[in-house]
Amino acid sequence: MSSIKFKVNGESQSVDIDPSTPLLWTLRDHLKKTGTKFGCGVGQCGACTVHFNGVATRSCLIPVQSVEGAEITTIEGLSESGDHVLQKLWVELNVPQCGYCQAGVLMAAADLLKRKPNPTDEDIDSHISNICRCGTYPRIRAAIHRAAKEIQA
Ligand code: FES
Ligand code: FES
Repeated sequence: MSSIKFKVNGESQSVDIDPSTPLLWTLRDHLKKTGTKFGCGVGQCGACTVHFNGVATRSCLIPVQSVEGAEITTIEGLSESGDHVLQKLWVELNVPQCGYCQAGVLMAAADLLKRKPNPTDEDIDSHISNICRCGTYPRIRAAIHRAAKEIQA
């Protein structure tokens, strides 16, 4: 066991834990940030996406020792009260179906808009490789395009 210190959604955390524990399980089981989901556990689906020092990252692949001193943002910290432009458009455009993948998609989409303020469909498809079993991809693209316009307006 080690004491690992890092920030989650701006708050300092210190967790006594096996340092090889994936960040995903540290967030969910130890810090109760259950908005971040487990899908595949092998870096394929993106359900576990968080921001690691501002970059969209699959938390199932990262041992918690790798985030010592880092800033982690989960879906709970994407905005103060669920009013990030993407979250509002996700509701307005009824993007989710079952919803399971959507926290990860939102984190990937927020990262994309920081890097590409006006992304093309190709940019969206190449940056957001998250898997949605419900096939909400067309609505995800539509919401990201609307968000890009609203941010620029
Ligand atoms: Fe991490 Fe699927 S649970 S990529
Ligand atoms: Fe069901 Fe994406 S909304 S898996």
